[in-house]
Amino acid sequence: MALAMHAAPLFCWPMPAPQNGAIEIPGEDGLLLRSFGFLDLESPVEYLSTWLTPVPRFFVRNHMHEPSQLSAADWRLSIGGEVEKPLTLTLADLSKLEVHSVVNTLECAGNGRRFQRPQIPGVQWGKGAVGTAEFSGPRLRDVLQRAGVKLSGKHVAFRGLDEVPGKVPPFIRSIPIEKALDADTLVATHMNGAPLTKHHGFPARALTPGWIGAASCKWVTEIKVLDSEFAGNFMNPGYRLPNQPINPGETVRPEDTHPVTSLAVKSVISGPLDGATLKPGRVAIRGAAWAGEAEIAKVEISTDGGTTWARANFGGERARYAWRLWHHEWIAEPGDHSIRSRATDSQGRVQPATAAWNPSGYLYNAIDEVRVRVA
Ligand code: MTE
Repeated sequence: MALAMHAAPLFCWPMPAPQNGAIEIPGEDGLLLRSFGFLDLESPVEYLSTWLTPVPRFFVRNHMHEPSQLSAADWRLSIGGEVEKPLTLTLADLSKLEVHSVVNTLECAGNGRRFQRPQIPGVQWGKGAVGTAEFSGPRLRDVLQRAGVKLSGKHVAFRGLDEVPGKVPPFIRSIPIEKALDADTLVATHMNGAPLTKHHGFPARALTPGWIGAASCKWVTEIKVLDSEFAGNFMNPGYRLPNQPINPGETVRPEDTHPVTSLAVKSVISGPLDGATLKPGRVAIRGAAWAGEAEIAKVEISTDGGTTWARANFGGERARYAWRLWHHEWIAEPGDHSIRSRATDSQGRVQPATAAWNPSGYLYNAIDEVRVRVA
């Protein structure tokens, strides 16, 4: 008999939040509250229109309470497990290592979950659990090299300083050693040129570029080299996908799943907004497209509900793990219109008409659509 895979780790489900409410959180600029049990804030889709997302406009995803006590002076990072020389670093020690910067599009695996049918429990993210920032700090591999990874070291686990209520297991996830030793994987201390804010992991977080946000542990305090993948809740049953496509609503056996790693190919229209009324004439359709570890090859736009497609133009900025901004000029004629965007990446992956349904609602990436009236 097939066992049901949990839609999401049970104890991570948030308290319900006010519908789509923009809230005043100090330092946050017009973000949408998705959960206030554990703070989850989404960027309105029109924010996905700048090369770098300003930090106050960057979505926030917390599985539990943020650490209440954080001090740069008292913070420590321990490195242990399958290493020759376990060590503990201070923030001052970290700052002596060479700094590397990576512009990365960080997207929550659950972004777009609210569009999945049948619906899936968990944070009901719309389109904005994604943002792009320049993350800086030492390379994880430089930190690991100081401890000397043993040949038996195959995975690297991170533990955050989250405050863990009741019986909730701590936020610990691991990544394979190859990704950990990649020159772009960081122990990031800065975001867009400033020290990380508390919501984004002060004083240091892992940055695993191109991968789901959950691979970038905030408030990291322990790095442990392991001989096998970490087996805790946030690796299993959390953050897994079926090995084979399944029908919407179907269950999958845990042994028929694998961890989610790189992001899918995806584009989103940041303007005009869904439901907008526009004047006839020239309309700039714009948005962002990203593909995790792959490159965006093209973005196509349809203004006739998917019958014909035209190639969008790219903005000038690009970086290996970052979204590409795109725009397309449309001469709008009176009537009701469906505008769609479809991205293709360098691996030949094309944004599908319907996203692959999975029990946790991860990696939603269907062709984006906004409906507008021209009058
Ligand atoms: N790290 C810790 N320690 N605790 C968390 O709850 N959430 C993860 C990841 N790192 C999380 C974490 C998830 S699911 C995402 S999508 C990203 O952080 C979000 O990063 P942000 O809040 O800086 O946008």
